[in-house]
Amino acid sequence: MSVETKQVSGKMWGGRFAETTAASVEAFSASIQYDARLYRHDVMGSKAHARMLARQGLITTEESEAIIQGLSEIEAEIDRGEFVFKPELEDIHMNIEKALTDRIGAAGAKLHTARSRNDQVNLDFRLYLRDEADTLDVLLGETQKAFARRARKYLGAVMPGYTHLQRAQPVLVSHHLLAYVEMFQRDRDRLAGCRQRINIMPLGAAAMAGTGLPIDRQSVAEELGFASITANSMDTTGDRDFALELLFCLNLIQLHLSRLAEELVLWSTKEFDFIRIGDRYCTGSSIMPQKKNPDIPELIRGKTGRVTGALIALLMTVKGLPLTYNRDLQEDKEQVFDALDTVKASLSITAELLDNTEFNVERLRAATIGGFMTATDLADYLVRRNMPFRQAHGVVGRIVAHCQQRDCELTNLTLAELREFSELIGADIFEVLSVDGSVNSRVSAGGTSRIRVEEALNTVEHSLGIST
Ligand code: ARG
Repeated sequence: MSVETKQVSGKMWGGRFAETTAASVEAFSASIQYDARLYRHDVMGSKAHARMLARQGLITTEESEAIIQGLSEIEAEIDRGEFVFKPELEDIHMNIEKALTDRIGAAGAKLHTARSRNDQVNLDFRLYLRDEADTLDVLLGETQKAFARRARKYLGAVMPGYTHLQRAQPVLVSHHLLAYVEMFQRDRDRLAGCRQRINIMPLGAAAMAGTGLPIDRQSVAEELGFASITANSMDTTGDRDFALELLFCLNLIQLHLSRLAEELVLWSTKEFDFIRIGDRYCTGSSIMPQKKNPDIPELIRGKTGRVTGALIALLMTVKGLPLTYNRDLQEDKEQVFDALDTVKASLSITAELLDNTEFNVERLRAATIGGFMTATDLADYLVRRNMPFRQAHGVVGRIVAHCQQRDCELTNLTLAELREFSELIGADIFEVLSVDGSVNSRVSAGGTSRIRVEEALNTVEHSLGIST
């Protein structure tokens, strides 16, 4: 039995058309160049749909089996790179459905029963993004592990902590590194929340009003591993919140990577000289033979622009769209795909980059000397001797001004000189003013003392499954 899909227009939807589509329109509206990457998820969704149609008696078991067999063959053909995608068939959904019908005949033409591309594309995108969310979670975990490895390696090393990019207080290098583990943990948690909202089954919304045919949406959701089904067919077909939310998650990940990149660029300058990035992860200059440039962190920082652009682009695409599906929504995929590719590549290379970055421990320690970085410790010392903090702040401020006049550090003053500012100061002050004394005094939960940082590192290693 042959199926009549050829219309005057040559289109699957061409019944009411008396003219062929303009070539310019085909070129302008085709999405197959980029939505082909949804093919596995399109096949997966169609198979579940076909099984449901058979269970509901809307097609026969034989038809469902023929559809599933045909879809498997098409998927394998695409896997092998042998499938010929046709731009005139617009998108991945039509390309696969047409190939199926060409292959199995009438049964293929029944696949689209009780379904529209409007709910189909929403399903495919959710299935695809659910997998991508899982991949991102793995990549984030790998990046966290790379930070934990550096934190373990340099445990005990000190460095200046900065506010306003001015030296503020000495900290452990590992404390700084573990700050990023926290950021990426929030990214993972955020992604898990986003995944829950991706993981809701849209099929059955049909074009936008639902269907009169006796479908069973719940069973499709179960087969595809969705937690629930969407509640309103109109909301469903016009909804891209899940894609926007994922883009926002991607933006924060890339933002965190970009902040790290900025630090790596700064730290690798002669001015800082805090780190050495391995030669394999740097590039040279075509004119200046002496140059070794941190291009990888620069590119990560630079790519943040396009990831942000993707979020803004899709926000603007959806803004002002009347319910329900509008073709504008086809613009969602390229933005999300590009942001995904960019963030995944940036995450992978960041983990490698960290493994190939060494810290200049002597230089970092030297940078903690000077700049009055233990001034807060002196104020806290006075507070422990019952001086109100504001008053202590004033006393230490005067000592700092005094040192600046004399061009010396706090530790260069004698006990007698210090006591001129406050009688509360005793001989034990010099331990307090030392870099290690300062760091190790910060025992508050989440603080930079060795004891707290080691605990934090142990916790992180444990939760990341790192055995030490
Ligand atoms: N390629 C389309 C998209 O990505 C699929 C849905 C098309 N629906 C339609 N009514 N034209 O949005």
